[in-house]
Amino acid sequence: MQHAPPLVLIHGFPLDAGMWAPQVTALSPTLEVIAEDLRGFGADARELPAIMPMRSHAADIKEMLDARGIERVVLCGLSMGGYIAMAFAERWPERLAGIILCNTRSNADDEDGVAARHAMAQNAREKGMEVIARGMVPNLLSEATRTERPAVAELVTRIIARQKPETVAATALGMAQRPDRLPVLQRLKVPALIITGEHDTLMPLPTSQVMADAMPGARLAVLPGAGHLTNLEVPELFNRSVQLFMEEHFGR
Ligand code: MLT
Repeated sequence: MQHAPPLVLIHGFPLDAGMWAPQVTALSPTLEVIAEDLRGFGADARELPAIMPMRSHAADIKEMLDARGIERVVLCGLSMGGYIAMAFAERWPERLAGIILCNTRSNADDEDGVAARHAMAQNAREKGMEVIARGMVPNLLSEATRTERPAVAELVTRIIARQKPETVAATALGMAQRPDRLPVLQRLKVPALIITGEHDTLMPLPTSQVMADAMPGARLAVLPGAGHLTNLEVPELFNRSVQLFMEEHFGR
């Protein structure tokens, strides 16, 4: 049986690797799973510049892989994690064995989007992360998740509230600078899986469809009942999609 490449999970914004707990638990018995905090998030103590572009987060991942002697991986990024996976794919396509893009999009921010990033950076610094968390959570989870699984909403609120305002500000400003990376996907020649949630209002289905269309052979999985944080909202469905993808392409 072919040996599966490590699966690197890249978290969303403004979260940390704690969001991947259901995947680490379920997938680790059969796969090498790496889920680490991005620079400055969670328990990570590395400093960030005032603006932290997606390509710099991607460079940190490349450095981590080099340090561990890992040549090729499957990158699985959710939302901002997807932006970082695409930035990685642009610079180091030869290090990718496959890519899983969840609840994300390839296009750049428009003018309103950039303005919202600046407002986010300012609010994080001035109002603090508790306020940001309360404002964001309703948009991150489907109504069903919020009403039927309040523990998920509490967990997401806790994760956001524990982030450092300076990290959040620098990364928000970094996201605002990212270019359209659809051409990166069009050039990429590796197995691809696109996952989204039926009720993701932040990244509506057409954004996933565009990415799937850019990569011939890519599979698109729309997970019922979920909003933006599919991996936490419907973890069994999410894990199954990833497992099937890994089995199909890498024999695991
Ligand atoms: C995320 O979940 O990572 C964010 O929604 C990404 C973004 O703000 O564009």
